Amino acid sequence: MSAEFDGRHSVITPEGVFIIGTYDEHGVPNAMNAAWGMQSDEGEITLMLSKHKTTENFEKTGAFTVAFGTASTVLISDYFGVESGKNINKIEKAGCHTHRGAHVNAPVIEEYPLTMECRVRSWDPATGYLIGEIVASHADESILTDGKVDLSKLRPIIFDPSFNAYRVVGDIVGKAFSDGLKLK
Ligand SMILES: Cc1cc2nc3c(=O)[nH]c(=O)nc-3n(C[C@H](O)[C@H](O)[C@H](O)COP(=O)(O)O)c2cc1C
Repeated sequence: MSAEFDGRHSVITPEGVFIIGTYDEHGVPNAMNAAWGMQSDEGEITLMLSKHKTTENFEKTGAFTVAFGTASTVLISDYFGVESGKNINKIEKAGCHTHRGAHVNAPVIEEYPLTMECRVRSWDPATGYLIGEIVASHADESILTDGKVDLSKLRPIIFDPSFNAYRVVGDIVGKAFSDGLKLK
C-alpha cells in the first residue's frame, strides 16, 4: 500500500532555510526567509522568490547576502518569513546586529554563523528566479573544524513542508564518493 499526493503537495526534501539580507536605498537592512533555493553551479546560488521588500531592495543594490538558518536561530529565522520589511525594521525588532559585507552592498547579520555575500547575476520578476554569484563566504570560528565548515557545529535547519516545521540536519551516515565504490 502507498499513498498518492497530487503534484502541488509533493514533499521535496530537503528544503533549505536561506536568510536573504538586503539594504534598501537608505541603507536600512532587511532579512527574509526562503526555502526554495539551491546551489546551481560552483559559486552560484539560485532562489525562487515572489515579490517582496527583499526583491525591491536587491533590484536597487544588485546585491544580497545568504545566511543559513540554524537550530540556535530558529525564532528569528521564522520571524524573517512571517513579517515584511515593508511594515517594520525586522532586524531591529529581532535584536540583530549587522555590518556591511566586505565585497557587496548587503548586510551581514552577525547572529548567523555562516553567511555568503552575493552579487545579482540575473533576476527575472516574471519567473521569480534569482541567480546570485557567490563572491565570498564568512564562517564564525565556532563552526569550524580544521578550517572547514563543520555541519555538526553549525546545526543547519531545513524546512519540513509536511509538518510546517524546522528540523535540524543530523548525523553523518555515510561517506560520499566512497561508500558506493564497494559495489563498483
Ligand atoms: C518557512 C518559510 C519559507 C519561505 N520560503 C519562501 C520562498 O522560498 N520564496 C518566497 O518568495 N517567499 C518565501 N517565504 C515568505 C517570505 O519570507 C515572506 O513573505 C517575508 O515576509 C518576505 O519578507 P520581506 O517582505 O521583508 O522581503 C517563506 C516564509 C517562510 C516562513
